[in-house]
Amino acid sequence: MRAGRARLVHVETPARDARDLMLHVLGIDAAALIATDGDALTAEQMSRYDAAIARRAAHEPVSKIVGLRAFHGLDFIVTGDVLDPRADSETLVDAALELAPDARTVLDLGTGSGCLLLTLLHRLPFATGLGVDASQAALAIARQNAERLHLDEKARFIRSDWLEKVDGTFDLVVCNPPYIGERERHTLSDDVLLWDPQAALFADEDGLAAYRRIAPTLGKALSETGTAFFEIGSGQEEAVSRLFSVCGFGDITFRRDIAGIRRCMIVRR
Ligand SMILES: C[S@@+](CC[C@H](N)C(=O)[O-])C[C@H]1O[C@@H](n2cnc3c(N)ncnc32)[C@H](O)[C@@H]1O
Repeated sequence: MRAGRARLVHVETPARDARDLMLHVLGIDAAALIATDGDALTAEQMSRYDAAIARRAAHEPVSKIVGLRAFHGLDFIVTGDVLDPRADSETLVDAALELAPDARTVLDLGTGSGCLLLTLLHRLPFATGLGVDASQAALAIARQNAERLHLDEKARFIRSDWLEKVDGTFDLVVCNPPYIGERERHTLSDDVLLWDPQAALFADEDGLAAYRRIAPTLGKALSETGTAFFEIGSGQEEAVSRLFSVCGFGDITFRRDIAGIRRCMIVRR
């Protein structure tokens, strides 16, 4: 593993990544690894480990090499067609579970891997939900995740340009739209730029394009007493909340992520 680590010195977390790739190749957990002698690798395991390290050294995220990413205690299939679920987005799930524990209907706009919708449906036993994405390829992954988590009877997925094809009203709306401005492109690492879909990241020059599209139509999908949870980028709170308040949403609050950034905007009528 030391050799693997040495080949990853240019990535952010070389020791952890080398270890996680070893666990993946051996098909064991961290506790079992402590008891394993690194020399005991078979030639086939060694060559798979080498290949995995080479992919990581070329900036492919560990989750995409392994094919799974943990989010809020569940594992999600991830490929190049979906955004890698981020720990920051768990702020939305925590806020939704706390503030809308009785929700029966959930809408997830820009569902990607389905991580927000499926985590909520897993935790809200009486709820059913709809996941929406513009990407057919992302929807295929979300459907696979629903099946894998035995939530396929509770979750439906449709292709729609935001709310265009959404019918009915929902008690709970979650949305993590693309919110990075094109002008910030140069600030992103290769791990993100080369491996997350561009449509999941960028929203015009200022990053606000998706909120501008969603705000005027949210009213038709949110039930009278419903609550919507939007992920926002660092420093976007004023601009995004203005877009929703001019559309008649009078109750707008925020939740901070673990780094202390206002990451989740909570919208009610
Ligand atoms: C930041 S990703 C979020 C994915 C997932 N919900 C998560 O939190 O990990 C944004 C998602 O919005 C989708 N998207 C982008 N433009 C869209 C549009 N016009 N209508 C619907 N979905 C869109 C992208 O395909 C992508 O899956």
